Amino acid sequence: MRAIDENTITDAAIEQMDSTKNPRLKQIMAAAVRHLHAFAREVDLTPEEWIEGIKFLTATGQMCTAYRQEFILLSDTLGLSSLINSLHDRRATESSTKSSLLGPFYRQDSPKFELGQSIAVKAKGPEIGIYGRITNTAGQGVPNASIEIWQPDEDGDYDLQKHDPSEMDLRGRFFTNADGVYYLRSIRPLGYMIPMDGPVGDMIRAQGRHGFRPAHIHFLIGAPGYREVVTALYIAGDDHIDSDTVFGVTDSLVAEVKDADTASPMKGVPSIRFNFTLAAAKDALSGRVGADPSQIIKKSA
Ligand code: BEZ
Ligand code: FE
Repeated sequence: MRAIDENTITDAAIEQMDSTKNPRLKQIMAAAVRHLHAFAREVDLTPEEWIEGIKFLTATGQMCTAYRQEFILLSDTLGLSSLINSLHDRRATESSTKSSLLGPFYRQDSPKFELGQSIAVKAKGPEIGIYGRITNTAGQGVPNASIEIWQPDEDGDYDLQKHDPSEMDLRGRFFTNADGVYYLRSIRPLGYMIPMDGPVGDMIRAQGRHGFRPAHIHFLIGAPGYREVVTALYIAGDDHIDSDTVFGVTDSLVAEVKDADTASPMKGVPSIRFNFTLAAAKDALSGRVGADPSQIIKKSA
C-alpha cells in the first residue's frame, strides 16, 4: 500500500484511469489531471477556495438553457476558445481565413436568403452592405458555398437575448453564385458587453475587466471538400478593437465600412468588402468551439 500524499496522488489518479479504452480520452484525462493537480499545488489551493470554485462552476451550469450557454462564455473569457481556434487553424494543410469565436449566440437553421437581401427583417439601423468572394487557396471562386451570418441589433443585443428568444432576426444563410461571389445587406453592428448577469459577469467584474466586445459580424462558411471556417469581421475604429474581452480580434479580420464604395453591388450603401479563403478539407472535423445552445442542452439532458 503506497502512501497517498501531495507527491503521489497525481500518479495514483492517472494509474487508476489506465483502463480507459479510448486512447484519446485517456490522453486528455491524464493531461487534465496532471495540469489540475499542478494548478492546485502552484497556488496551494485551500478547501474554502476550491468550494468557491465548485460553487462558481455549479452556477455556470445552472445558468445554461436552450438559449444561454454560460460555459461557452467562460471558455471565451478565459481565452481558451481563442487558443483552441488557433490550434485548429494550425492543423490545416493550407492557410485559410483565420478562425474567430463562434460565441454563445450561434443558432443552426437560420432562414435562407437570396444574394442581395437583408438579414435585418425587424431590426432597424443604418444599412450596410457586405460583399466579396469565397475562394480556394489558388484564388478560384467556390460556387454554392454556404455562408451563415449573425450579429446583434442596434442595441447590441442578439435575438436570443430578446423577450421572445425563439424569434430569429439578424441571422441568415446565403449561397455564393457560380463565381464564388456573395453580397448581402444588414445594419451596422454595435459593440456590446457580453452577458454580465451570471457567474461569468461576476468573474469579469472581480477582475476589473470592461466586458466589451468590439463591433463585429459572425460568419460560418462551408462548402463540400473544404474546411469549415468559423470567423468574424471586426469593424475598424471601434474603441475596444485592441481589448476584446474574449480575444476574438486579430489584425487580418479587421474590416472597414466604406461610405463611398463604388465597387459595392449595393449602390450607395456603405459597404464592407471582404474575401474569405477556404482550405481544402483534410478531415471532416468541425471548426466550431461551441454550438447552438439548444443542441448542447439536448445532448447532455
Ligand atoms: C459573440 O461574439 O457573440 C460572443 C462571443 C463570446 C462571448 C460573448 C459573445
Ligand atoms: Fe458576437
